[in-house]
Amino acid sequence: MADLDDIKDGKDWGRDRPADTSRFFLKGAAHHDWGMKARLAQIFRPDTGRTVMLAFDHGYFQGPTTGLERIDLTIAPLAAHTDVLMCTRGALRSTIPPEVKKPVVLRCSAGNSVLTELSNELVGVEIDDAIRLGAAAMAAQVYIGAEYEHKSIANVVKLIDTGTRYGIPTMAVTGVGKDMARDARYFGLATRIAAEIGAQFVKSYYVDEGFERITLGCPVPIVIAGGKKLPERDALEMAYRAVDQGAAGVDMGRNVFQSTDPEAMLTALAAVVHEGRTGAEAYTMFRDLERRQAA
Ligand code: 5RP
Repeated sequence: MADLDDIKDGKDWGRDRPADTSRFFLKGAAHHDWGMKARLAQIFRPDTGRTVMLAFDHGYFQGPTTGLERIDLTIAPLAAHTDVLMCTRGALRSTIPPEVKKPVVLRCSAGNSVLTELSNELVGVEIDDAIRLGAAAMAAQVYIGAEYEHKSIANVVKLIDTGTRYGIPTMAVTGVGKDMARDARYFGLATRIAAEIGAQFVKSYYVDEGFERITLGCPVPIVIAGGKKLPERDALEMAYRAVDQGAAGVDMGRNVFQSTDPEAMLTALAAVVHEGRTGAEAYTMFRDLERRQAA
């Protein structure tokens, strides 16, 4: 067992030696079974190895968030413009038509609210319901350094164990406690722990300093959350920087559904994620689409 006082920051990140993807297009996934790989290939585009996921699971702990008051009106029409839907089973069953034929990453944790301690979650979906809904993956938070860290890790371990039995991947969402610093050290720790306990992919926030070390130090793909609403130009620039520094895409919510034009935002994000457009190029695209739709 390593002594706590002997834990130092990593140094050799192997920037010039990318992870081997010659046997399967996705980092860290070459040794999974067929069903697991098939589901990962629904979530991540095999031709780019990346994904644009639309997250609208916020209501499970914060109620009718701005932009999500009527998911049937605001989100369902966006399904055609995203690679993946990320939501709760309640939102899925009540507002998303099954005909959309988009892979679903199912929020499988519950048990908290903005009024209480966020890290105090439980597994809120049994595996048979995830299978019944045809989930492409399951998701729950790991709250590293928070009051209920141990419980949140146990939740994700349970999803990973049951998901692996049925070939369903688990995305560990690195949740941030109310008072925690959002820096590379924290997210480097949280994403690596998530991968080591067996999560097939991980969601992190982008950080301005040292994000590349987070992706290099995590042996499975990382997608970034968008966080609070930013001006569209800044959100697209953040997506560009994240992908440029090794992220396998985005799982964004507020920066899409609170945008002046969510559909244009998804199209611009796809240009960054799948076509390698810069943030500035994607913003020009966003403005053109926005103007066209307003005309
Ligand atoms: C909440 C989540 C959200 O899905 C995530 O934060 C993405 O949303 P946003 O881009 O609005 O931050 O995991 O716990």
